[in-house]
Amino acid sequence: MATESYKDVQRLQCSMAEDLKLINYFEALSNFFMVDFYTYSAYNMLPKAWLESAKQYDDSLLEQFCTSLLPENSVKICRSLMPLSMLCFIALTRKKLALRIKQPCPKHELPISCKDQLKFLKPKKIVELSDMLPCIQKVVSSQNITHVVDIGSGVGHASRFIAKQNPHCMVLRIEAQSNLINKATDIDLNFDKMSKSKNIFSSVCRLTLDDNVVSSFLQLLKDADQANGTSFSSPKSRILLLGLHPCGNLGSYMLRLFKECAICQSAVIVSCCYLLIDSEPNQTGGFPLSNFLKDQEVLNLSSQLKEQACHNAEFYLSRLGSQLNNHDKLTQNWRSIADIFLSKRESASSRSWFKFKKRANGENIVKFINKNLALHKLPELDKDEEELALKLGVVDQWKTWAYYLVYILKLSLGVIGESLILNDRILFLLESRCSSQFEILFNPKESSRNVAIVSSKN
Ligand SMILES: C[S@@+](CC[C@H](N)C(=O)[O-])C[C@H]1O[C@@H](n2cnc3c(N)ncnc32)[C@H](O)[C@@H]1O
Repeated sequence: MATESYKDVQRLQCSMAEDLKLINYFEALSNFFMVDFYTYSAYNMLPKAWLESAKQYDDSLLEQFCTSLLPENSVKICRSLMPLSMLCFIALTRKKLALRIKQPCPKHELPISCKDQLKFLKPKKIVELSDMLPCIQKVVSSQNITHVVDIGSGVGHASRFIAKQNPHCMVLRIEAQSNLINKATDIDLNFDKMSKSKNIFSSVCRLTLDDNVVSSFLQLLKDADQANGTSFSSPKSRILLLGLHPCGNLGSYMLRLFKECAICQSAVIVSCCYLLIDSEPNQTGGFPLSNFLKDQEVLNLSSQLKEQACHNAEFYLSRLGSQLNNHDKLTQNWRSIADIFLSKRESASSRSWFKFKKRANGENIVKFINKNLALHKLPELDKDEEELALKLGVVDQWKTWAYYLVYILKLSLGVIGESLILNDRILFLLESRCSSQFEILFNPKESSRNVAIVSSKN
């Protein structure tokens, strides 16, 4: 292994060991649902030193803890002394979030020749494509890529633009849902009228993480070649595997495929939907992939932590920071209390946060809950429940403080969980001697799963 890459491996291992320690330390807190805050004593899971500070209740401590986590804000040391462990936590989360900021800030410009295609795209997709296409172009030209395979292609926007920009490349999209492929080919027809790209093909297939990862992929390429007269499966082809937000295990599948399949020359993968990663310790699981993590004691990330890793932490932390400034602290608590009653009436799996109406100023908590139950066509609170709601709703300062502290901590743990998953993926590639790096593609507040793993074989 070259010295540089050896150093990369050591650096990654140190960072992952640090993440693991933190995740282990806060395991109970990260496994717990915010909605359970009022039925379990979540604040007892907070570090003792933090609770000591909380007892001296200082409003600005919470606000400064929250805002200091975001690297764009300066660190403010609170009037009441922050415990050292809290400062360490701030430093670690800030470091992780700082690594996710794109420098310089992206300009969101699609290639000129593609501008007339904007009508097919949602604003978020325009942002993603304009920030991602330059990275793909760099790989295509520096690695002499002859074929691009877009896995989990959705309606095929990325592959369509790549095919147009690279007429010499054959582009194949693979997608499990046939309706999305049908939609993609419909858009192609309109797109084609203007651009005449004849180098794009589709295949409906659900790829699975199993031991035959290479042979089933090669068979799929052969079938596509036979149907379309292409040369994806030729030993001479140099394939770029592309994954723009491949859900959960699909990202892991792509990395194993990339490592093991000789004709896959490069990979660009922007991971997402970590909650769908299978982290049961077995050979073909999606996590962990690296030998380093497989040797550690903690192998099974909780589903709660994986779910937290999918949140837009930057967005929520900055929104929360400004809410705290405005002293509008109760919105989250009230939603949580209302959810207790909602989940009693519906099965827990159908909890649906986004159907909640925001609390109107000065509204009574019982009214708030009843209004939201009505939105779900559910019966109103009975007398006993009203009493309980009021009891829970009389939130003293200490409870509010604890509620938000737990909430902020959980958001930050999600950031650390994502970092662990991504570092595991890149370490797996480095262990396999594929030169690999992270590239920040998008502004995290615009598209929060914004980190690409870019890898090529020497
Ligand atoms: C989050 S979407 C991303 C779509 C597209 N790449 C984009 O960025 O617009 C993930 C896509 O992967 C597809 N998918 C998930 N698992 C798959 C699998 N095992 N094989 C093929 N496609 C899969 C889903 O159907 C979905 O369309």
